[in-house]
Amino acid sequence: MTKILVTGANGMLGQDLCPILEDEGFDVVETDIKSLDITDISMVKAVLVKENPDIVIHCAAYTNVDKAEEDIETARLINSKGTENIAKTCAEIDAVLVYISTDYVFDGQGSEPYLPTDKTSPLNNYGLTKWEGEEAVRKYCKKYYIARTSWLYGIHGKNFVETMISLADKPELKVVDDQVGCPTWTVELSNGIVKLLENAEYGTYHVCGSGETSWYGFAKEIFKGINKEVNLKPCKTDEFPRPAKRPHYSVMDNGGICRNWKAALKDYLLLRD
Ligand SMILES: NC(=O)c1ccc[n+]([C@@H]2O[C@H](COP(=O)([O-])OP(=O)(O)OC[C@H]3O[C@@H](n4cnc5c(N)ncnc54)[C@H](OP(=O)(O)O)[C@@H]3O)[C@@H](O)[C@H]2O)c1
Repeated sequence: MTKILVTGANGMLGQDLCPILEDEGFDVVETDIKSLDITDISMVKAVLVKENPDIVIHCAAYTNVDKAEEDIETARLINSKGTENIAKTCAEIDAVLVYISTDYVFDGQGSEPYLPTDKTSPLNNYGLTKWEGEEAVRKYCKKYYIARTSWLYGIHGKNFVETMISLADKPELKVVDDQVGCPTWTVELSNGIVKLLENAEYGTYHVCGSGETSWYGFAKEIFKGINKEVNLKPCKTDEFPRPAKRPHYSVMDNGGICRNWKAALKDYLLLRD
Protein backbone atom coordinates (compact mmCIF):
# COMPACT_ATOMS: atom_id res chain seq x y z
CA MET A 1 0.00 0.00 0.00
CA THR A 2 1.35 3.42 -0.92
CA LYS A 3 2.01 5.47 2.21
CA ILE A 4 1.37 9.23 2.17
CA LEU A 5 2.39 11.58 4.98
CA VAL A 6 0.44 14.86 5.09
CA THR A 7 1.82 17.99 6.81
CA GLY A 8 -0.66 20.54 8.16
CA ALA A 9 -3.37 17.85 8.20
CA ASN A 10 -5.46 19.95 10.62
CA GLY A 11 -5.75 22.86 8.20
CA MET A 12 -8.66 23.65 5.86
CA LEU A 13 -7.18 21.65 2.96
CA GLY A 14 -5.69 18.87 5.08
CA GLN A 15 -9.03 17.99 6.69
CA ASP A 16 -10.66 17.40 3.29
CA LEU A 17 -7.59 15.88 1.65
CA CYS A 18 -6.85 13.10 4.17
CA PRO A 19 -10.22 11.26 3.95
CA ILE A 20 -10.14 11.55 0.14
CA LEU A 21 -6.68 9.93 0.08
CA GLU A 22 -7.94 7.16 2.37
CA ASP A 23 -10.94 6.54 0.09
CA GLU A 24 -8.47 6.24 -2.80
CA GLY A 25 -6.77 3.39 -0.92
CA PHE A 26 -3.66 5.18 0.36
CA ASP A 27 -2.21 4.57 3.81
CA VAL A 28 -2.37 8.10 5.27
CA VAL A 29 -0.23 9.49 8.11
CA GLU A 30 -1.73 12.77 9.33
CA THR A 31 0.65 15.21 11.03
CA ASP A 32 0.09 18.60 12.63
CA ILE A 33 2.35 21.21 14.19
CA LYS A 34 2.59 19.16 17.42
CA SER A 35 3.61 15.89 15.84
CA LEU A 36 5.63 17.49 13.00
CA ASP A 37 6.74 21.11 13.31
CA ILE A 38 8.20 21.73 9.86
CA THR A 39 10.51 24.47 11.16
CA ASP A 40 12.36 21.94 13.35
CA ILE A 41 14.78 20.07 11.08
CA SER A 42 15.64 17.36 13.61
CA MET A 43 11.92 16.65 14.13
CA VAL A 44 11.33 16.62 10.36
CA LYS A 45 14.15 14.11 9.89
CA ALA A 46 13.12 11.91 12.81
CA VAL A 47 9.45 11.72 11.76
CA LEU A 48 10.07 11.24 8.03
CA VAL A 49 12.78 8.61 8.56
CA LYS A 50 10.58 6.73 11.06
CA GLU A 51 7.43 6.83 8.90
CA ASN A 52 9.34 6.37 5.63
CA PRO A 53 6.42 7.48 3.40
CA ASP A 54 6.41 6.99 -0.38
CA ILE A 55 4.86 10.44 -0.80
CA VAL A 56 4.71 13.61 1.34
CA ILE A 57 1.91 16.11 0.68
CA HIS A 58 3.05 19.37 2.22
CA CYS A 59 0.00 21.49 3.14
CA ALA A 60 1.42 23.20 6.26
CA ALA A 61 1.99 26.91 5.76
CA TYR A 62 1.82 30.40 7.20
CA THR A 63 -1.36 31.51 5.45
CA ASN A 64 -2.21 34.92 6.94
CA VAL A 65 -1.52 37.07 3.87
CA ASP A 66 -1.90 40.47 5.56
CA LYS A 67 -0.03 39.55 8.75
CA ALA A 68 2.92 38.35 6.66
CA GLU A 69 3.52 42.00 5.67
CA GLU A 70 4.52 42.89 9.24
CA ASP A 71 6.03 39.50 10.14
CA ILE A 72 8.05 38.26 7.21
CA GLU A 73 10.42 36.45 9.62
CA THR A 74 7.73 33.99 10.73
CA ALA A 75 6.26 33.65 7.23
CA ARG A 76 9.75 32.91 5.89
CA LEU A 77 10.58 30.49 8.71
CA ILE A 78 7.47 28.40 7.94
CA ASN A 79 6.95 28.83 4.18
CA SER A 80 10.58 28.97 3.00
CA LYS A 81 12.74 27.29 5.66
CA GLY A 82 10.02 24.80 6.69
CA THR A 83 9.55 23.77 3.06
CA GLU A 84 13.32 23.51 2.60
CA ASN A 85 13.44 21.14 5.61
CA ILE A 86 10.71 19.00 4.08
CA ALA A 87 12.29 19.08 0.59
CA LYS A 88 15.80 18.12 1.78
CA THR A 89 14.44 15.26 3.87
CA CYS A 90 12.17 13.96 1.09
CA ALA A 91 15.23 13.81 -1.17
CA GLU A 92 17.14 11.89 1.54
CA ILE A 93 14.40 9.27 2.01
CA ASP A 94 13.56 9.23 -1.73
CA ALA A 95 9.93 10.27 -1.20
CA VAL A 96 7.86 12.11 -3.81
CA LEU A 97 7.02 15.62 -2.58
CA VAL A 98 3.78 17.46 -3.37
CA TYR A 99 4.05 21.13 -2.39
CA ILE A 100 0.93 23.30 -2.33
CA SER A 101 1.71 26.77 -3.65
CA THR A 102 -0.29 29.81 -4.64
CA ASP A 103 -1.41 32.15 -7.43
CA TYR A 104 0.18 34.95 -5.36
CA VAL A 105 3.56 34.00 -6.89
CA PHE A 106 2.31 36.06 -9.88
CA ASP A 107 2.02 39.87 -10.03
CA GLY A 108 -1.32 39.85 -11.87
CA GLN A 109 -0.32 42.44 -14.47
CA GLY A 110 -1.38 40.27 -17.44
CA SER A 111 -4.77 39.58 -18.99
CA GLU A 112 -4.33 35.95 -20.15
CA PRO A 113 -4.44 32.95 -17.80
CA TYR A 114 -0.99 32.16 -16.40
CA LEU A 115 0.72 28.98 -17.53
CA PRO A 116 2.87 27.04 -15.03
CA THR A 117 5.95 28.13 -17.00
CA ASP A 118 5.13 31.87 -16.87
CA LYS A 119 7.38 34.31 -15.04
CA THR A 120 6.71 34.68 -11.32
CA SER A 121 6.95 38.01 -9.51
CA PRO A 122 5.20 38.03 -6.12
CA LEU A 123 3.68 41.30 -4.87
CA ASN A 124 3.52 40.47 -1.16
CA ASN A 125 5.51 38.66 1.54
CA TYR A 126 3.20 35.65 1.61
CA GLY A 127 3.63 35.15 -2.16
CA LEU A 128 7.38 35.73 -1.89
CA THR A 129 7.88 33.19 0.90
CA LYS A 130 5.68 30.59 -0.86
CA TRP A 131 7.77 31.15 -4.02
CA GLU A 132 10.96 30.64 -1.97
CA GLY A 133 9.38 27.34 -0.87
CA GLU A 134 8.89 26.43 -4.55
CA GLU A 135 12.55 27.20 -5.25
CA ALA A 136 13.65 24.94 -2.38
CA VAL A 137 11.53 22.09 -3.79
CA ARG A 138 13.05 22.57 -7.25
CA LYS A 139 16.57 22.76 -5.77
CA TYR A 140 16.51 19.69 -3.53
CA CYS A 141 13.98 17.29 -5.09
CA LYS A 142 13.89 15.43 -8.38
CA LYS A 143 10.56 13.75 -7.69
CA TYR A 144 8.14 16.58 -6.98
CA TYR A 145 4.83 18.16 -7.88
CA ILE A 146 4.28 21.84 -7.19
CA ALA A 147 0.51 22.38 -7.17
CA ARG A 148 -0.39 26.09 -7.29
CA THR A 149 -3.92 26.78 -6.15
CA SER A 150 -5.99 29.89 -5.47
CA TRP A 151 -8.99 31.43 -3.68
CA LEU A 152 -9.41 28.26 -1.62
CA TYR A 153 -12.57 27.49 0.34
CA GLY A 154 -13.77 24.45 2.22
CA ILE A 155 -15.96 23.31 5.05
CA HIS A 156 -13.11 23.21 7.61
CA GLY A 157 -11.75 26.75 7.52
CA LYS A 158 -12.33 30.48 7.50
CA ASN A 159 -12.87 31.43 3.86
CA PHE A 160 -14.62 33.83 1.50
CA VAL A 161 -17.75 31.70 0.93
CA GLU A 162 -18.49 31.40 4.65
CA THR A 163 -17.66 35.08 5.25
CA MET A 164 -20.11 36.16 2.52
CA ILE A 165 -22.87 33.92 3.88
CA SER A 166 -22.32 35.33 7.38
CA LEU A 167 -22.73 38.88 5.98
CA ALA A 168 -25.81 38.16 3.85
CA ASP A 169 -28.24 40.09 6.06
CA LYS A 170 -26.37 43.39 5.86
CA PRO A 171 -28.38 46.19 4.22
CA GLU A 172 -25.61 46.60 1.62
CA LEU A 173 -22.55 44.51 0.83
CA LYS A 174 -19.64 45.99 -1.14
CA VAL A 175 -17.32 43.46 -2.76
CA VAL A 176 -14.14 44.04 -4.78
CA ASP A 177 -14.64 43.73 -8.53
CA ASP A 178 -11.13 44.52 -9.80
CA GLN A 179 -9.32 41.39 -8.60
CA VAL A 180 -9.92 38.41 -10.85
CA GLY A 181 -8.95 34.81 -10.07
CA CYS A 182 -10.04 31.18 -9.83
CA PRO A 183 -12.09 30.04 -6.83
CA THR A 184 -11.14 26.52 -5.77
CA TRP A 185 -12.95 24.08 -3.46
CA THR A 186 -10.59 22.06 -1.23
CA VAL A 187 -12.28 18.85 -2.47
CA GLU A 188 -11.53 19.76 -6.12
CA LEU A 189 -7.92 20.48 -5.19
CA SER A 190 -7.68 17.15 -3.33
CA ASN A 191 -9.04 15.28 -6.36
CA GLY A 192 -6.60 17.20 -8.57
CA ILE A 193 -3.69 16.14 -6.36
CA VAL A 194 -4.80 12.50 -6.67
CA LYS A 195 -4.86 12.90 -10.48
CA LEU A 196 -1.30 14.30 -10.44
CA LEU A 197 -0.12 11.35 -8.34
CA GLU A 198 -1.84 8.86 -10.63
CA ASN A 199 -0.47 9.90 -13.97
CA ALA A 200 1.35 13.22 -14.29
CA GLU A 201 5.02 13.83 -14.96
CA TYR A 202 6.89 15.57 -12.15
CA GLY A 203 6.80 19.38 -12.35
CA THR A 204 4.72 22.48 -11.66
CA TYR A 205 0.93 22.52 -12.14
CA HIS A 206 -2.02 24.84 -11.63
CA VAL A 207 -4.65 22.99 -9.61
CA CYS A 208 -7.52 25.47 -9.34
CA GLY A 209 -11.08 25.82 -10.57
CA SER A 210 -11.28 26.57 -14.30
CA GLY A 211 -12.84 29.75 -15.61
CA GLU A 212 -12.43 33.09 -13.86
CA THR A 213 -14.33 35.65 -11.82
CA SER A 214 -13.87 38.65 -9.55
CA TRP A 215 -14.60 38.50 -5.81
CA TYR A 216 -17.84 40.34 -6.65
CA GLY A 217 -18.77 37.72 -9.29
CA PHE A 218 -17.89 34.98 -6.80
CA ALA A 219 -20.16 36.57 -4.15
CA LYS A 220 -23.02 36.88 -6.67
CA GLU A 221 -22.75 33.17 -7.48
CA ILE A 222 -22.70 32.24 -3.77
CA PHE A 223 -25.94 34.12 -3.07
CA LYS A 224 -27.56 32.72 -6.22
CA GLY A 225 -26.62 29.25 -4.99
CA ILE A 226 -28.30 29.73 -1.62
CA ASN A 227 -31.28 31.62 -3.09
CA LYS A 228 -30.64 34.75 -1.11
CA GLU A 229 -31.44 38.29 -2.27
CA VAL A 230 -28.55 40.49 -1.19
CA ASN A 231 -27.88 44.14 -1.97
CA LEU A 232 -24.47 43.49 -3.49
CA LYS A 233 -22.39 46.40 -4.83
CA PRO A 234 -19.14 46.11 -6.82
CA CYS A 235 -16.27 48.27 -5.58
CA LYS A 236 -12.56 48.88 -6.22
CA THR A 237 -9.64 47.45 -4.24
CA ASP A 238 -8.71 51.04 -3.17
CA GLU A 239 -11.94 51.26 -1.16
CA PHE A 240 -10.73 48.46 1.11
CA PRO A 241 -7.02 49.13 1.72
CA ARG A 242 -5.26 46.05 3.11
CA PRO A 243 -1.65 45.67 4.29
CA ALA A 244 -0.75 43.18 1.51
CA LYS A 245 -1.03 44.05 -2.18
CA ARG A 246 -3.06 41.53 -4.21
CA PRO A 247 -2.64 40.76 -7.92
CA HIS A 248 -5.39 42.18 -10.15
CA TYR A 249 -5.45 39.18 -12.49
CA SER A 250 -4.16 35.92 -11.04
CA VAL A 251 -6.16 33.55 -13.26
CA MET A 252 -4.26 30.31 -13.87
CA ASP A 253 -4.60 27.89 -16.76
CA ASN A 254 -5.29 24.54 -15.06
CA GLY A 255 -4.92 22.38 -18.17
CA GLY A 256 -8.32 20.79 -17.45
CA ILE A 257 -7.37 19.15 -14.15
CA CYS A 258 -10.31 20.64 -12.17
CA ARG A 259 -13.93 21.45 -13.06
CA ASN A 260 -15.33 24.91 -13.67
CA TRP A 261 -15.42 26.91 -10.42
CA LYS A 262 -19.23 27.40 -10.65
CA ALA A 263 -19.94 23.65 -10.82
CA ALA A 264 -17.70 23.02 -7.79
CA LEU A 265 -19.29 25.87 -5.81
CA LYS A 266 -22.76 24.45 -6.51
CA ASP A 267 -21.71 21.09 -5.04
CA TYR A 268 -20.11 22.75 -2.02
CA LEU A 269 -23.23 24.79 -1.26
CA LEU A 270 -25.43 21.68 -1.51
CA LEU A 271 -23.09 19.78 0.80
CA ARG A 272 -22.93 22.46 3.52
CA ASP A 273 -26.71 22.86 3.50
N1 LIG B 1 -6.36 29.45 1.66
C1 LIG B 1 -6.11 29.88 0.43
O1 LIG B 1 -6.87 30.67 -0.16
C2 LIG B 1 -4.90 29.37 -0.31
C3 LIG B 1 -4.66 29.85 -1.61
C4 LIG B 1 -3.54 29.38 -2.30
C5 LIG B 1 -2.68 28.45 -1.71
N2 LIG B 1 -2.93 28.02 -0.44
C6 LIG B 1 -2.00 27.03 0.14
O2 LIG B 1 -2.74 25.85 0.40
C7 LIG B 1 -2.18 25.17 1.53
C8 LIG B 1 -3.28 24.83 2.52
O3 LIG B 1 -3.90 26.05 2.94
P1 LIG B 1 -5.08 26.09 4.00
O4 LIG B 1 -6.01 27.15 3.56
O5 LIG B 1 -5.55 24.71 4.30
O6 LIG B 1 -4.26 26.66 5.25
P2 LIG B 1 -4.56 26.55 6.81
O7 LIG B 1 -5.97 26.18 7.07
O8 LIG B 1 -4.00 27.80 7.41
O9 LIG B 1 -3.65 25.29 7.22
C9 LIG B 1 -2.27 25.39 7.35
C10 LIG B 1 -1.87 24.46 8.45
O10 LIG B 1 -0.45 24.55 8.64
C11 LIG B 1 -0.21 24.45 10.01
N3 LIG B 1 1.10 24.96 10.38
C12 LIG B 1 1.50 26.26 10.55
N4 LIG B 1 2.79 26.30 10.94
C13 LIG B 1 3.22 25.02 11.00
C14 LIG B 1 4.45 24.40 11.34
N5 LIG B 1 5.51 25.13 11.72
N6 LIG B 1 4.54 23.06 11.30
C15 LIG B 1 3.48 22.30 10.94
N7 LIG B 1 2.29 22.81 10.64
C16 LIG B 1 2.15 24.16 10.65
C17 LIG B 1 -1.33 25.25 10.65
O11 LIG B 1 -1.45 24.91 12.00
P3 LIG B 1 -2.03 26.00 13.07
O12 LIG B 1 -3.43 26.31 12.59
O13 LIG B 1 -1.94 25.28 14.35
O14 LIG B 1 -1.10 27.18 12.94
C18 LIG B 1 -2.52 24.80 9.80
O15 LIG B 1 -3.13 23.65 10.34
C19 LIG B 1 -1.09 26.09 2.09
O16 LIG B 1 0.16 25.66 1.61
C20 LIG B 1 -1.43 27.45 1.49
O17 LIG B 1 -0.28 28.25 1.34
C21 LIG B 1 -4.03 28.45 0.26
